[in-house]
Amino acid sequence: IVIVATGGTIAGIADSPAGNVYTPAQLTVESLIRQVPQISGKASVEGLQLCNIASQYMMPRIWIHLAGVVDSLFSGDHCDGIVVTHGTDTMEETAFFLDLVNAHERPVVFTGSMRPSNSPGADGPANLFNAVCLAADPAAVGKGVLVVMNDYIFSASEVTKTHTVNPQAFESPDQGPLGTIRGGNAFFYHPRHGRPFLEKKFSIAELANRDLPRVDIVMSYAGATSLLFDTLVKNGTEGIVIAGVGHGNYSEQIENSAKNAVRNGVFVVRATRVLQGGVSSDVENPFKGQVVSRSLSPQKARILLMLALTASREPADIQRFFDQYP
Ligand code: DGL
Repeated sequence: IVIVATGGTIAGIADSPAGNVYTPAQLTVESLIRQVPQISGKASVEGLQLCNIASQYMMPRIWIHLAGVVDSLFSGDHCDGIVVTHGTDTMEETAFFLDLVNAHERPVVFTGSMRPSNSPGADGPANLFNAVCLAADPAAVGKGVLVVMNDYIFSASEVTKTHTVNPQAFESPDQGPLGTIRGGNAFFYHPRHGRPFLEKKFSIAELANRDLPRVDIVMSYAGATSLLFDTLVKNGTEGIVIAGVGHGNYSEQIENSAKNAVRNGVFVVRATRVLQGGVSSDVENPFKGQVVSRSLSPQKARILLMLALTASREPADIQRFFDQYP
């Protein structure tokens, strides 16, 4: 198992006795492995330091680098599984991007921690142990990119961070976790019926030498003006995901700007700031050329739109990518 480290709190060091004040992204992957000697009884592991950053600083170019490393490790039959240690703030984004471009069936498991490595009640060692055990578990093959946090197993396409500080910080609000893993023993609740596989994975080889299309997110709320939306369009964004209110709705000003933007070739995805339910096609005031996000959150809809725009500029094609999800 190769552990690819990117930083985050799991590599953090507490600056206060209680550990609630800390500096993330301090420890190396070798230090993380040394903190969990029990791993050696479960799998032979090798560390790879991709970067060492707090994940609020994660960038698409690092996503692409990680995807290339995963592709070469598996293509070269170098390992049976991969664990990615990552900050929890944007873990769901990196994991989802990888899920969209990774063509290999062997397990890729993301994990992190909510408390730094040397704080009382540090959750990183247990999460790392579970993640390595899952990455080495044949039951995890073919399940897409997975996220393990606090004894739960989640799908990268469904998981989101739902608590800012508690170790139980991740949920899949609509679909629930795929299963549990305790002491390294995984239990999947259900065989994966109809896992949303895209008709085609996006090719990381094609993406490696290009910038991804720029897609931004605009939130709607009572009284939201179209200033941000219009400024983004003026500055060349190729797509805007609206984190709408309710079932993908937004203020009148944003609505007018969105219709105008679509007429001018900018792609608009109607997503929602609401945690459950997503946005299906039976929205209020539908307009020609709109795309709806289905079960994807605004931050994940942005990633899918970035990749979809590398494959097509037809709204119907773009919607088809989103329709792979519930
Ligand atoms: N700065 C946050 C990050 O790196 C810390 C959160 C964490 O890793 O748990 O995502």
